[in-house]
Amino acid sequence: MSDIESLIQQSLADIAAATSPDLLESLRVALLGKSGTVTAQLKALGTLPPDQRKAAGEAINRARDTLGAALATRKAELDAAALDVRLATESIDVTLPGRNAARGGIHPVSSTLARIVDIFARLGYELSDGPEIEDDWHNFEALNFPPHHPARAMHDTFYFEDGRLLRTHTSGVQVRYMQDLLARGGQPPLRMIAAGKVYRSDSDQTHTPMFHQVEGLLVDEHANFADLKGTLAEFVRAFFERDFAMRFRPSYFPFTEPSAEVDIAWQQPDGSMRWLEVLGCGMVHPSVLRNIGIDPERYTGFAFGLGVERFAMLRHGVDDLRSFFDNDVRFLRQFA
Ligand code: FA5
Ligand code: MG
Repeated sequence: MSDIESLIQQSLADIAAATSPDLLESLRVALLGKSGTVTAQLKALGTLPPDQRKAAGEAINRARDTLGAALATRKAELDAAALDVRLATESIDVTLPGRNAARGGIHPVSSTLARIVDIFARLGYELSDGPEIEDDWHNFEALNFPPHHPARAMHDTFYFEDGRLLRTHTSGVQVRYMQDLLARGGQPPLRMIAAGKVYRSDSDQTHTPMFHQVEGLLVDEHANFADLKGTLAEFVRAFFERDFAMRFRPSYFPFTEPSAEVDIAWQQPDGSMRWLEVLGCGMVHPSVLRNIGIDPERYTGFAFGLGVERFAMLRHGVDDLRSFFDNDVRFLRQFA
């Protein structure tokens, strides 16, 4: 047997006997690696007499192919055996308890907002929307607050340098909604609500600089103050799922006449009772309808704007409105 033949035979036997992928890999390196035996023989071809080179070259190439194939076959066998072992030994314990993914919760202000919107949706109010960065006309002028009107001082407004502002209430959406309706060729009757963030430079136990309002507007041929009171009483009953002591206190807004603010009896931690103002409301001022192009001789309407955080406080017995925005998860987790 030639040297190369005996190398092949010996190597095939070694490959067949290799019992692990690691052993197999060291065999491959020793035979076919950069300084392996077969590679060395290929490199030595040039030193042979020219008439022997061809035959020797063919024999070495054949050895390389044969051994390469044998290594691949053995590797596949060893991999399959390793997989069998894993399949036989590893099992899934289907009785183990599941791993819980930590779930977030809905913020109490968000859930209160959703609850309010849901109640008005059931009363037939269409949900509308407006921008948080608003212009003076929609936030003030169209609502009958001329420039320098003293009622502007009731809103501590954040202004931009170009005269736009962070909306101080959601009442501007009333204006946008009625304009859109007319632009589409529509006319009252209409019923809409708008919900979202509003901003005022204001902070104490019952005020934060950013808070949420829900605006409501109804315009029809015979809407009156009794309808407004009935609607709000019905809403409060649906929201708290019981009757709540509630009072209408005469008030002033330039865009409603007459106007009222609604207070709800608020149980203090020490057991005493205090009135908490939760919303402003009134009959839409004829000038507002006229500003938009709705005939105030034919149509009347009522509107209200309620403070979402105030409803969340009453519903959950929270005594400081600012705690909704401290982002202390121990506080927030109670409502999740
Ligand atoms: C208004 O904002 C009027 N736009 C409401 C309105 C709408 C009247 C439609 C008539 C017709 P007022 O400034 O009172 O009104 O605010 C309404 C409610 O927002 C308050 O009753 C209170 O519940 C809430 N609120 C006001 N300021 C804050 C604040 N800084 N933080 C939290 N809630 C507030
Ligand atoms: Mg008020």
